[in-house]
Amino acid sequence: MIQESAAGSVRAAYNTVAASYARALPDTSFESSLDLAMIRQFADALCAGTADGGILDAGCGTGRMISHLESLGLSDIEGVDLSEAMIAQARNSHPQCHFKTGDLAALPYASRSFRGVLAWYSVIHTPPEHLPDIVTDLARVTRHGGHVLLGFQAGIGQRTMDRAYGHDVVLTAWLHDPADVAKLLTRQGFTIAAQLTREPRSVEAHAQAFILARRSG
Ligand SMILES: C[S@@+](CC[C@H](N)C(=O)[O-])C[C@H]1O[C@@H](n2cnc3c(N)ncnc32)[C@H](O)[C@@H]1O
Repeated sequence: MIQESAAGSVRAAYNTVAASYARALPDTSFESSLDLAMIRQFADALCAGTADGGILDAGCGTGRMISHLESLGLSDIEGVDLSEAMIAQARNSHPQCHFKTGDLAALPYASRSFRGVLAWYSVIHTPPEHLPDIVTDLARVTRHGGHVLLGFQAGIGQRTMDRAYGHDVVLTAWLHDPADVAKLLTRQGFTIAAQLTREPRSVEAHAQAFILARRSG
């Protein structure tokens, strides 16, 4: 689990910005076509795969990615997030889905519950030294033959913001080295199916990375 003080400040920040986040990012129009191509690969892999079970949006925030996954033909999607206010937004827009509050490193689900797990920009507030705990728990809840997709800012280092989505909040975002993340996934029994690192667009400060992996062991 990320240290309670760190988790507490991430939760507090997202509790403050939840409504503004939902207004600023209502859908995937911010994502680039390459980002969306990786999500489509994830959806295609789940549709073609042999694993059964539901899909978890891990760090679902306001649930905007659930709408996108549904638009790609996926169903039986649930969400988990640290922030109660982000979850409240998600519940409001997806009354048919189940949501829980919880930490990505201690997911409130039984082992092998899901055939697919999406962690879309939800590991960005976790320092690299705590990422192994999250990858271990993502592996625990993913069925053999199931897939995970991670999206995150690529690089090394961190930046602490004192303002986000129009609010005064303290929020630290960490960059992750895609090679290190791939290594962690492989160690937890995943096989890397596709990996993309793209250059930043003019609206972005960093390269963006996406890793699609299949739970093989
Ligand atoms: C940048 S937002 C992304 C939300 C959503 N995936 C999206 O793409 O709109 C990051 C989300 O991850 C959640 N989060 C960050 N660290 C987390 C952790 N350790 N456990 C659970 N949720 C976490 C935050 O509360 C926030 O809702």
